[in-house]
Amino acid sequence: MMFRRSRRQMEETEDMYPGPKEQRGSFENHQRRKKCGWVVCMVVLIVGLILLGMLVVYAGFALYRHYVTDVNDRRENDEYLRKLVRQVNDSPETTWKAKFNKFGVRNEAYGFTYTRNKTAIEEYMEHINKFFTSDAMKRHLKELEDFKDEDIPKEFDARIKWPHCPSISNVPNQGGCGSCFAVAAAGVASDRACIHSNGTFRALLSEEDIIGCCPVCGNCYGGDPLKALTFWVNQGLVTGGRDGCRPYSFDISCGVPCSPATFFEAEGKRTCMRRCQNIYYQSKYDDDKHFATFAYSMYPRSMAVSADGKERVKVPTVIGHFNETASTPLNTTQIRNIIMKEIALFGPTTMAFPVPEEFLHYSNGVFRPFPVDGFDERIVYWHVVRLIGWGHSDDGSHFWLAINSFGSHWGDNGLFKINTDTMEKYGLEYETAVV
Ligand SMILES: *[C@@H]1O[C@H](CO)[C@@H](O)[C@H](O)[C@H]1NC(C)=O
Ligand SMILES: *[C@@H]1O[C@H](CO)[C@@H](O)[C@H](O)[C@H]1NC(C)=O
Ligand SMILES: *[C@@H]1O[C@H](CO)[C@@H](O)[C@H](O)[C@H]1NC(C)=O
Ligand SMILES: *[C@@H]1O[C@H](CO)[C@@H](O)[C@H](O)[C@H]1NC(C)=O
Repeated sequence: MMFRRSRRQMEETEDMYPGPKEQRGSFENHQRRKKCGWVVCMVVLIVGLILLGMLVVYAGFALYRHYVTDVNDRRENDEYLRKLVRQVNDSPETTWKAKFNKFGVRNEAYGFTYTRNKTAIEEYMEHINKFFTSDAMKRHLKELEDFKDEDIPKEFDARIKWPHCPSISNVPNQGGCGSCFAVAAAGVASDRACIHSNGTFRALLSEEDIIGCCPVCGNCYGGDPLKALTFWVNQGLVTGGRDGCRPYSFDISCGVPCSPATFFEAEGKRTCMRRCQNIYYQSKYDDDKHFATFAYSMYPRSMAVSADGKERVKVPTVIGHFNETASTPLNTTQIRNIIMKEIALFGPTTMAFPVPEEFLHYSNGVFRPFPVDGFDERIVYWHVVRLIGWGHSDDGSHFWLAINSFGSHWGDNGLFKINTDTMEKYGLEYETAVV
């Protein structure tokens, strides 16, 4: 996820703080001149009182303005969003239902800038390239190739296919940290570790381990699930959940979802703790690490390597491989088939997509952007979720079934369906790893 800080917000902060502070300083200076003559003292006192009065009026005005602007903003936003929700529910064309979510407000916001560590990213790229040419990857590609198109189920739900893996049904809550990429990656890791072990391993792996100990993966303002999964291969993940080694530490009481305005504080508290919480007696941190064999991206993409993000390199991908080796370029059906085979054989993957504001008010059904026009203007941020299945609507169109990280009160018990045709043109990315 990436966020921009609105100009209005920056101006507000700059308006409020330096003003009153300077005035208070000059008032204190005047107070200190005790040894002056009587008249001078009176003058100074009067000037001081005037300044104090101005300060009080100014602060009161600033507070009032801040409060009123805020309330007006929210009212406008509420009305606009309630109208949007009504339009969705009243339209005969929509295939989903909306419910007004008071937390589903649009945030322009938050010019959190960070400098990428070029050396670290290049190291990760080296690993990703090495994974792709490994024998394990060759075997993996062969398994996908051997899976016949006609054997792809019409509907699929990983929870039903692997009932002995409870992590698949787990609905996480990212709370006040933009950690969707880490939450989705740790979810995929837990599911695939369980599936691979045939239900012997059933713990949740720790998103906290990623968000805290893998700075190159990302931060509370977002990150890259492919790097998070590469971290699972190289550094391993300890157990998480409530009673594992490293539970999730970020506050979840700030909303469904929390506003990016809360991420700033979380980002300040983000630390790497290489020890297990007290109640976890099972193992030491280093003994609790669980590893994957290799990580990869499904859909062709690139990765920013330079500090400013302008220099990008191509990532080797599964679909890229099949596209290059095919006699004619793959069409969307063929591309989708490869992703379905991957999920049916090995388990869930992550899915990244741009979130338009109406998505935050999703209730049930198959989500499609609404209205169709102006999608780009409605994008709130890019989001990463866990993809667990698919199906087809009555009109034959394909949808993905995914688990969001906004807790189980959001959407359809924390899950959603999303039309694949409409979203593909706005960009979807899929990343995963194999144990
Ligand atoms: C960047 O990454 C390299 C390699 O992982 C590491 O040695 C170095 O300390 C990092 N630099 C910064 C500024 O974090
Ligand atoms: C997986 O576990 C189930 C029972 O939980 C068992 O019936 C099945 O034979 C196991 N499969 C393998 C390949 O071990
Ligand atoms: C497949 O390859 C063709 C060129 O042969 C390219 O134009 C197209 O973008 C590729 N598709 C994907 C999904 O990579
Ligand atoms: C995609 O290509 C396959 C194989 O060439 C073909 O059978 C199928 O009809 C095509 N689908 C679409 C939607 O073009």
